[in-house]
Amino acid sequence: MKSFCSKTSFLLLAILFSTNCLDIEAQQCQSSGRIRGRKPPPGQCNRDNDSDCCKQGHMYTTYKCSPQVSGQTKAYLTLNGFQKGGDGGAPCECDNQYHSDDTPVVALSTGWFNKKSRCLNNITISANGRSVVAMVVDECDSTMGCDSDHDYQPPCRNNIVDASKAVWEALGVPHDSWGGLDITWSDA
Ligand SMILES: *[C@@H]1O[C@H](CO)[C@@H](O)[C@H](O)[C@H]1NC(C)=O
Ligand SMILES: *[C@@H]1O[C@H](CO)[C@@H](O)[C@H](O)[C@H]1NC(C)=O
Repeated sequence: MKSFCSKTSFLLLAILFSTNCLDIEAQQCQSSGRIRGRKPPPGQCNRDNDSDCCKQGHMYTTYKCSPQVSGQTKAYLTLNGFQKGGDGGAPCECDNQYHSDDTPVVALSTGWFNKKSRCLNNITISANGRSVVAMVVDECDSTMGCDSDHDYQPPCRNNIVDASKAVWEALGVPHDSWGGLDITWSDA
């Protein structure tokens, strides 16, 4: 009897705890689904600049939203090439152009890209006690991936600022540490 009782209260606690968590999460960005990774065909998926390639059978989480934007939105900075022939692939979604990697430009995760609403606007990126203003020119797609359109790379996480090398230089990040950095950003 005693053990039954303690099991019940444990169950109750677990239910209470999980509904409580769901409540908190409901106000935040929840995943929109998952996609199964496909192995890139030979010669596909450019591994430059630490680009990830999809793994066969691995499940990848997709998002249509990003964490709420504040005056100091936390994000993860990654490196991307925006020039023709770079790992960004097609021209940028905002202006259908390529951009020099010597100019500070970025792609934002789908939620922050917000249906092009930040296109060609500038954001201020801060890290390392420095900051740099960069122009939003592209989307880092959080909703899809692992197909030829996305160079067989996984969907973007929902908190990514994918930046040209000019941004990494301006933040004073040593070259051998380029690729991943915790930053904050705000609309400039
Ligand atoms: C890797 O990043 C550098 C710096 O942004 C860029 O110049 C280069 O084109 C990128 N490589 C590829 C294959 O995109
Ligand atoms: C963003 O910054 C660039 C470079 O300084 C500037 O040319 C552009 O007009 C700015 N965009 C907006 C929307 O202010």
